Amino acid sequence: MTLRHFLSFSDLSGSEVRTIIQRAIELKRQTRAGVAHDYLLRGKTLGMIFEKSSTRTRVSFEVGMLQLGGHALFLSPRDTQLGRGEPIEDTARVLSRMVDAVMIRTYEHEKIERFAQHATVPVINGLTDHEHPAQLLADLQTYTEQRGDIGGRRVAWIGDGNNMCNSYILAARQLGFTLAAACPEGYDPDPGIVKAAGDALELLRDPAAATRDADLVVTDVWASMGQEDEKSARRQAFTGFLVDSELMALARPDALFMHCLPAHREEEVTTEVLEGPQSVVWEEAENRLHAQKALVEFLLTGD
Ligand code: CP
Ligand code: NVA
Repeated sequence: MTLRHFLSFSDLSGSEVRTIIQRAIELKRQTRAGVAHDYLLRGKTLGMIFEKSSTRTRVSFEVGMLQLGGHALFLSPRDTQLGRGEPIEDTARVLSRMVDAVMIRTYEHEKIERFAQHATVPVINGLTDHEHPAQLLADLQTYTEQRGDIGGRRVAWIGDGNNMCNSYILAARQLGFTLAAACPEGYDPDPGIVKAAGDALELLRDPAAATRDADLVVTDVWASMGQEDEKSARRQAFTGFLVDSELMALARPDALFMHCLPAHREEEVTTEVLEGPQSVVWEEAENRLHAQKALVEFLLTGD
């Protein structure tokens, strides 16, 4: 089997993503019906390196591996040699000889790429400053379950041109939807990703223009992990980028609202929208579990 990594959303083709989503939907249905999947990855292990905090990513990968009959190891720099300066390349070579796959959440994207270059097992991006592709699988599963295939739809991204936004742009290109991203000046997504997106991306400054006729409205925190010092400057720059019911009213009547969570109520989104009938954020969070089970199965078994 060829070694496959999932460092960027662009590491999967559109048809592979659709296959993984359908499998995730199937695994979810079966899990809810009490069907056990503990024979699928029996005895397989996933090493999980977390250099940033996490609730959903950690729990979903760990529980997912357990449900598939495998095991996940939580590795933090605080109590591994990574925190004492052991090179990432050495860690990649050592872990590859002991575990079947590695998930990494870190700051610089370049670090996960260097890890993957030296790994002989699949490496999964559990969030870097540049991308959050595992979250995209859950978002796309959620959209598909609620409204059918996302191809041809209009998705509004409101706020920071951050890791989530970059992965959304790549997903738009891979799956054939339009991403209308409204970002304040100075907070645009990655220029290389923007350039490659072609007409899959409309890069705007006005949240209303992006949201008009959207099928899905998505936002995220204004200050991501590692940007804590920029909080007050960002609060100023993002004035007018709050997703509230007035903004949601510009979207299509059946539009959904998503947020990868954790959310800051009354900052990037009102409680009314987050807890309202168009919000699918809890389903979206749960789908991290199902989508990642399907992803790990795909990377480890090729189906
Ligand atoms: N959405 C997400 O990745 O959440 P965590 O930071 O809790 O893992
Ligand atoms: N953009 C956010 C996503 C958190 C899941 C961050 O990087 O902190």
